[in-house]
Amino acid sequence: MNREARFESLYNSAAEIVREQCRADVRLKKICKLLASTVEYYDWVGFYISEQGRRELVLGPYVGTPTDHIRIPYGRGICGQAADVKGTVVVQDVSSESNYLSCSIHVRAEIVVPVMRADSVVAEIDIDSHTPSPFTVDDERFLSSLAVLVEPII
Ligand code: SME
Repeated sequence: MNREARFESLYNSAAEIVREQCRADVRLKKICKLLASTVEYYDWVGFYISEQGRRELVLGPYVGTPTDHIRIPYGRGICGQAADVKGTVVVQDVSSESNYLSCSIHVRAEIVVPVMRADSVVAEIDIDSHTPSPFTVDDERFLSSLAVLVEPII
């Protein structure tokens, strides 16, 4: 299966999970597991939920190494930058990024895609990779469509 077909199949599986009747956080965690077990360079997959009044992100469902970064102020780290700019941030080499919060020494690259509702960031999809420069436009497209898909259950 080529990259595009794999992401299409992943999207369809995630859509089925969104339609399930269980709690929203359980569904989000299932989506994390699905992504981490399917894409070999997705090593940490999680959601941060936005507390918009405080301009902070709070760790939500995730799979991967436990992280110290439970609360992240807007502007700090890659997650905080994505919240500030209300857009996707891709860092193909985290060692070249000064505004970065390390979760594990094994992480080489990170992509953060905001989940938007109207003009507000309500959550983020955060993916860490142990592979250098792994992300392509296909990842950005897929994760952007996933962000739209999960918005109603945030
Ligand atoms: N690396 C992120 C922090 C979150 S952990 O990767 C899970 C950042 O710089 O915002």
